[in-house]
Order: sequence, then C-alpha cells, then structure tokens
Amino acid sequence: MMEIRLPRTDEAPAFFALVEANRARLKQWLHWLDDHVSLDDTRRHIDHFARLYETREAFHLGVFDAAQMCGMVSLQNIDWLNRKASLGYWLGEQWLGRGLMTQVCGTLIDYAFDELELNRLEILCATGNHRSKRIPQHFGFRLEGVMREAEWLYDHWVDQELHALLRRDWLNRPMAGLHDRTG
Ligand SMILES: CC(C)(COP(=O)(O)OP(=O)(O)OC[C@H]1O[C@@H](n2cnc3c(N)ncnc32)[C@H](O)[C@@H]1OP(=O)(O)O)[C@@H](O)C(=O)NCCC(=O)NCCS
Repeated sequence: MMEIRLPRTDEAPAFFALVEANRARLKQWLHWLDDHVSLDDTRRHIDHFARLYETREAFHLGVFDAAQMCGMVSLQNIDWLNRKASLGYWLGEQWLGRGLMTQVCGTLIDYAFDELELNRLEILCATGNHRSKRIPQHFGFRLEGVMREAEWLYDHWVDQELHALLRRDWLNRPMAGLHDRTG
C-alpha cells in the first residue's frame, strides 16, 4: 500500500540511507544534497518539515511503498493570498519507472485543488530534466515559459521551464476523477 505523509523522527535512519543511496543521481537535478550529509541533518529536516506543515507554509511529505520510504513529494512556496504553490518530487532508483510518482502527484494535485482550494500549481523543471517534465505533461500543465539561469546547481546555472495548472483546467479536464494514462 502506498502512503504519503510526514516522515517521523524514528524513520530518520531509513530516510538518510535513501538519500545516501541516491545522492549522485539526485544531485544532477536537486540543489539540497550538500545540505543533507548526515543523520543529524536528516533529523533536522524532519523537524523542519513538521514545523512547516503546522504553519501550512509547505508540505514536504514522504512517499512510502509497503511501509518503506521511497521518495518525497512537496507542496512548497505555498502562497495562501494568491492560492498557489509549487510541486516538487524525487524517488529512489528502485522505484523508478513504475508510475509511482505519477500516481502520487495525481493524489496531491487533487488534494491541493479540492481540499486546500488552491487555484494554481506550478512545477519548475530544469530544461534538460526530461523525465521530470513528463509529470506536468501527463497532467496537462501548460508550459508558460523558460526562466533563464533560474537555479544554481552546485557549480552551474540551469534554465528552468515553468509548467502551471489552474484549478479550473483540472476540474474541467476530460475524464476528471480518473487518473488514467491516456492524457
Ligand atoms: C522525476 C522522477 C520522480 C520521475 O520518476 P519516474 O519513475 O519516471 O516517474 P513515474 O513513477 O511516474 O513513472 C513514470 C514511468 O513509469 C512507467 N509506468 C509503468 N506503469 C505505469 C503506470 N501505471 N502509470 C504511470 N506510469 C507507469 C511509464 O513508462 C512512465 O514513463 P513515461 O512517462 O515515459 O511513460 C524521477 O526521475 C526522479 O526522482 N528524478 C530525480 C529527481 C528530480 O529530477 N526531481 C524533479 C525535479 S523538477
């Protein structure tokens, strides 16, 4: 069974092991790996995620498959005034290519529009991150532009594509309510 929830402090060793095992691959696209190099860092991040959840500033949630942590999904930069947020995600190597992140993102998009009543979701993907871009494409996000040198990744700048989905587009999509693979 798949679960999406805050990681607990007692899960820090498994969380850290997952980051360690995937560090080199994740570093290609995610900026935070050098800020997460020890078990203490993991504990600090878990506490921080819990605080952000309480204040509703951001939801950084673990993805668990059969009780094993396999990645994370985040609703971050939540702007309650303008009812928008951005979606981030990563998975451990052994869970790639199964449609797991597509399923997780479908659930979170539903939650963001239905429960949180957000109006706009953004996904920022480096222009070269083709695998990540398939997620916004799958859910009908619109490519709104390319932001040049929008992110510093360790030793170089990357251009980012801004993909966005409005609540009304999601509610009016063909086959609303079904997370099919035909879209
Ligand atoms: C981005 C990332 C999470 C995507 O992982 P993924 O395994 O490709 O994504 P999914 O779990 O949704 O799998 C999709 C693939 O699984 C396969 N699949 C198998 N069964 C499936 C199903 N029932 N439903 C959906 N996809 C299925 C498909 O081939 C699909 O590939 P396609 O989109 O080319 O058709 C992963 O590449 C990652 O962790 N990257 C590093 C971190 C990163 O770049 N994060 C994003 C920063 S913007």
